[in-house]
Amino acid sequence: MSILLFLVFFPLLSLGHILEGSEDSSCKNDGLVIHFPFRLRHQPKHCGYPGFELHCNNKKDTILELPSSVHLVVEKIDYVSQQIHLYDPEECIATKLPKLNLSQSNFRNDDDPTDLFNCSAPFSENYGYYLIPCLGSPGYQVHAVTSTSGLKFFSSGPCTKIHQYPYSDSTFGENKLQLSWSVPLCGNCESKGMDCGFKDGTKLLETHCFNRTMTHKGVVLGTALVCIIVFSLYKLYLTSRNERESRVRLEKFLDDYKAIRPTRYSYADIKKITDDFNEKLGEGSYGTVYKGRLSSEIYVAVKVLRDSKGKGEEFINEIGTIGRIHHVNVVRLVGFCADGFRRALIYEYLPNDSLERFILPVSSSPGSVSLISWNKLQHIALGTARGIEYLHQGCDQQILHFDIKPQNILLDHNLNPKICDFGLAKLCSKEKSAVTMTAARGTIGYIAPEVLSRNFGKVSHKSDIYSYGMLLLEMVGGSIKMDSKTNNHSKVNSSEWIYRHLEKGEELKIRIEEEGDGTIVRKLAIVGLWCIQWHPIDRPSIKEVTQMLEGDGSHLNLSPNPFMASNT
Ligand SMILES: *[C@@H]1O[C@H](CO)[C@@H](O)[C@H](O)[C@H]1NC(C)=O
Ligand SMILES: *[C@@H]1O[C@H](CO)[C@@H](O)[C@H](O)[C@H]1NC(C)=O
Ligand SMILES: *[C@@H]1O[C@H](CO)[C@@H](O)[C@H](O)[C@H]1NC(C)=O
Ligand SMILES: *[C@@H]1O[C@H](CO)[C@@H](O)[C@H](O)[C@H]1NC(C)=O
Ligand SMILES: *[C@@H]1O[C@H](CO)[C@@H](O)[C@H](O)[C@H]1NC(C)=O
Ligand SMILES: *[C@@H]1O[C@H](CO)[C@@H](O)[C@H](O)[C@H]1NC(C)=O
Repeated sequence: MSILLFLVFFPLLSLGHILEGSEDSSCKNDGLVIHFPFRLRHQPKHCGYPGFELHCNNKKDTILELPSSVHLVVEKIDYVSQQIHLYDPEECIATKLPKLNLSQSNFRNDDDPTDLFNCSAPFSENYGYYLIPCLGSPGYQVHAVTSTSGLKFFSSGPCTKIHQYPYSDSTFGENKLQLSWSVPLCGNCESKGMDCGFKDGTKLLETHCFNRTMTHKGVVLGTALVCIIVFSLYKLYLTSRNERESRVRLEKFLDDYKAIRPTRYSYADIKKITDDFNEKLGEGSYGTVYKGRLSSEIYVAVKVLRDSKGKGEEFINEIGTIGRIHHVNVVRLVGFCADGFRRALIYEYLPNDSLERFILPVSSSPGSVSLISWNKLQHIALGTARGIEYLHQGCDQQILHFDIKPQNILLDHNLNPKICDFGLAKLCSKEKSAVTMTAARGTIGYIAPEVLSRNFGKVSHKSDIYSYGMLLLEMVGGSIKMDSKTNNHSKVNSSEWIYRHLEKGEELKIRIEEEGDGTIVRKLAIVGLWCIQWHPIDRPSIKEVTQMLEGDGSHLNLSPNPFMASNT
């Protein structure tokens, strides 16, 4: 059955993979591999070592910025010998190097110094010295000569020495610069085929080697290993239900929990943790969630997936990516289960409800929902945006959520938002979830039009922006129904109502309690309306959303009418 589903939906499922790498944050990378200690500027800080940030210029070249704003293009990085090869896109490195002071950077250069000579007569013979055409002027040529050689030729006659620089002559002649670094020391990890990264749980810039998690090599080796592990866990379960052994295993799980590594659990473990699926927390589009406990203090939420796609190894591979996600606004993945055809994800448990509890559903009557201040709602909106930003701009792979909605924004005891169910679009049959979502929410869907029908455009990270915009409008709109002056709530299509009010320049007088509430409401509404623009290209990126929300909102302009574009 599941194989059939997989085959039928395969074209749709592969969507998630096509989407990786968004248009606005990637360089063209001619085989350049960027990983620790380097990171691209938009990636989270922990992906790279300070001073090793790269970015893309408008030509999509990968740029390293050295002190005094010297921008050079990265040609190659040799992680084993810890060297980086750079070149000057403007082909005149000689004008840039005088500004450069490497002692303020992490890089150094061990070349013999070079003298530059300004010669009045063009040399007819080819001395094998480098000519620097870009410094020449009518009647003059500039040559680069290694300081320790060739001085004889140049120090007399028509040439005058203009400068000495601590870089090799080929640097000037070929506009290429080769630098090395000694901190962080990762070459030893690389040469052993291991990854390098920061040590967990230390604030110092200490690095260590770790085994590559679930990479290509892992799959080959892993297939055999996975079988052995599954088989032996199964055997273990069958042959010994003995208390002592299960206690030893549980201790290992707790160790993993403390070390923030996702642990692999067997199905039998899951049954034990959830006390035979005793307490159901909820049912979502991707599966059913049960409450479980690892120890007397540590509670978890176990999501048993329906329609998980792919084979065990693919699933484990994805977990390898998802498991590395750590952000205050993203729910932590504690573990997973891939036992035969059964798949489950184990998340940290958040005792407080989801955002849904604080947003008024259309059908509910006033009073049945606890309300929180606009200030707090703004805090939740911003935190959620930061979580999405992290998912969209993670280290190795972009993770698209495809299911941003109030139920998936969990709140901790301080009402800090945490996004849950991320990455499931890749693990589960997406089509299925889209259908159940629309069925569940007949009023305003959170799904972007292009996700429902490919005719409306390309599915991308902008589809999450749409859902996020709907969430903001729901935050604002949910409260309209509380306002006694607009009491015809069931008939009000809140998003359009909001738009028409703002268009007329009217203030949204919605549940204003404190000074400044009006500004927050207006800001959330305007940002929300920008996010639900019909055409993905008109929607802002999540980074722009965060910036708009962080500002005071006074200079935000109202978006074009999102409810008209669909007719054009
Ligand atoms: C480079 O910077 C260091 C410290 O910032 C300073 O001591 C040194 O004199 C500078 N070198 C040059 C050539 O400006
Ligand atoms: C070379 O010398 C000539 C004459 O002094 C001068 O005009 C020219 O600017 C010099 N070139 C450089 C690169 O210093
Ligand atoms: C990495 O794996 C090798 C064997 O595959 C093992 O000997 C070594 O202890 C592992 N290192 C770490 C840090 O887990
Ligand atoms: C969140 O949960 C904690 C612990 O259960 C509780 O003390 C707190 O009142 C809850 N907060 C809200 C807003 O429900
Ligand atoms: C509410 O709707 C009724 C008709 O359904 C209408 O007569 C009334 O004016 C409306 N009230 C407001 C405040 O819009
Ligand atoms: C409410 O607005 C949405 C736009 O998101 C639209 O699709 C829907 O048809 C509107 N409903 C009504 C009753 O006007």
